Amino acid sequence: MGLELAKIRREYTFGNKLDISNTESDPFVQFELWLNEAIQIKELEPTAMIVATVSPDGHPSTRTVLLKGLENGEFLFYTNYESRKGKQLAENPYISLSFVWHKLERQIHIEGRAEKCPPEVSDQYFMTRPYRSRIGAIISPQSRVIENRMQIMRAFAKEAFKSAGREIKRPDHWGGFAVTPTRFEFWQGRESRLHDRILYLKGEDGKWQKERLAP
Ligand SMILES: Cc1cc2nc3c(=O)[nH]c(=O)nc-3n(C[C@H](O)[C@H](O)[C@H](O)COP(=O)(O)O)c2cc1C
Repeated sequence: MGLELAKIRREYTFGNKLDISNTESDPFVQFELWLNEAIQIKELEPTAMIVATVSPDGHPSTRTVLLKGLENGEFLFYTNYESRKGKQLAENPYISLSFVWHKLERQIHIEGRAEKCPPEVSDQYFMTRPYRSRIGAIISPQSRVIENRMQIMRAFAKEAFKSAGREIKRPDHWGGFAVTPTRFEFWQGRESRLHDRILYLKGEDGKWQKERLAP
């Protein structure tokens, strides 16, 4: 490749510091603090997270989705249950979520288990989506091979015509996943690549323990 990638290098000098003593005892509270700062500093997609799933034969895959809720200790996102990720989660519920906020030189990695949200939770969120996004969710066989873009545009137009003037209900193949974390890692970039990393692990007693990890 003609690009001199090895020369692309930036020091992480934003100035934030992370320590066992200046982090919250509850990782959800710490997460909300950081997410709020990412929103305040106007990260482009502060709620975007990389979601990793694993196939039944142990092959990992990743993609970006948007965090749409953080309630009762669960991270919520919405997708097509028949998509590649949806099928993998049906077979293997273990999941990891990664947030990267470049302006703040921060990342958070979360690991846990995902399960489908109750239908009424998905229904409620679906109704808040713009009209065109609802139609899209109904007609797109997410992750499947299609002939061309025209195929999807035709399906969209057909569904929009069919549902004109009617309530557009959530299809069964689309809904939320709720992720219950067992591990959080908060990472703060520091100078000379001596970054701060604070790990939260859930103990047998249900309490969160904090440790510092080497950069
Ligand atoms: C910023 C961003 C946000 C996205 N948000 C979602 C989302 O909330 N839900 C979703 O199903 N796909 C979302 N996508 C598309 C996914 O990355 C992915 O292409 C799609 O879900 C199919 O993934 P799969 O084939 O691995 O199941 C988003 C993509 C980007 C770049």
